[in-house]
Amino acid sequence: MPSFISIENLSKVYQNGHIALNGVDLDIEEGELIALLGPNGAGKTTLISIICGLVRPSSGSVTVDGHDIIRDYQHTRKLIGLVPQELPIEPFESVIKTVNFSRGLFGKTPNPAYIDQLLSDLSLSDKKYSQIKALSGGMKRRLLIAKALSHEPRVLFLDEPTAGVDVNLRKETWDLIHRLRENGVTIILTTHYIEEAEEMADRVAVINNGSIIVVERKAELMQKMGQKQMFLELQQPMPQIPEQLGDYDLYTQENGTILVYNYETTRKRTGITSLLKDLSSMQISFRDLRTEQSSLEDIFMDLVDERVEILEHAESKYASNS
Ligand SMILES: Nc1ncnc2c1ncn2[C@@H]1O[C@H](COP(=O)(O)OP(=O)(O)OP(=O)(O)O)[C@@H](O)[C@H]1O
Ligand SMILES: [Mg+2]
Repeated sequence: MPSFISIENLSKVYQNGHIALNGVDLDIEEGELIALLGPNGAGKTTLISIICGLVRPSSGSVTVDGHDIIRDYQHTRKLIGLVPQELPIEPFESVIKTVNFSRGLFGKTPNPAYIDQLLSDLSLSDKKYSQIKALSGGMKRRLLIAKALSHEPRVLFLDEPTAGVDVNLRKETWDLIHRLRENGVTIILTTHYIEEAEEMADRVAVINNGSIIVVERKAELMQKMGQKQMFLELQQPMPQIPEQLGDYDLYTQENGTILVYNYETTRKRTGITSLLKDLSSMQISFRDLRTEQSSLEDIFMDLVDERVEILEHAESKYASNS
């Protein structure tokens, strides 16, 4: 059986010749929450816009629930809710009219109880009859979520759902997304807040220059690529790393008062015991020790940087060959 959403060899070249997507393959299962991470211009909005039928792909195909998004647009579009990155809302319309209108667009019969619950979940009940122009930026964002959910879709795309939203509201939005997911809604979100992906995603896809460079379950990604660091606060500053410690991945911080040891979480032996033994035999003592695990953010930065380095390397090779 095909995946709930199946993206195959998808490419997009915009009219000006810009290659926004380059052979993207991705399968998404029903009920999962996948975070799309990537720097500005990576192709995230383009990918989402194609699946939602707003942008035509140049080649490749996408199916949702087994239906092709172009041939069976009517069917697939009804299954999808989209919270767009931009805020294209009619300023003089009221909140409730906007949401009801969105629902009507998908041919759904009115369901005031559902809509009231939705507004309440998004802390918008007291703004039900307000004009949109009277809402704050964060409220407008929540209204976009209400619109996207108005026709009870099975998949929700959230393109930067919490950009410009304050910390409390961000947490509220996260709670709402968690609840939707518990109800079986498949969720694809893009974000620049990697903390958001770390908090919520089952899987993380990293997209850069129009290609997906990694798709991995979040826990596995963090385990595979994660590094741990041990920080030792030294009694005496260490101006440079002694030669006897050359086998360890060490460096110093804060004018040599902190010794940092990098080790991989996946290794059976961390090397900590032998390092501490070696330090002790060299009479290097410390007053404090703590460890830190690299965050998804560190991993993301490494991945994107690495990719850039690989590309630069390939380009310079190509330049020297030609
Ligand atoms: N209509 C268009 N015409 C030409 N180029 C476009 C068009 N829309 C997007 N692009 C280009 O395609 C690339 C991908 O854009 P896209 O909006 O998909 O990126 P993104 O990953 O969503 O970025 P951001 O994080 O800034 O939202 C960018 O280089 C962008 O300039
Ligand atoms: Mg975007």
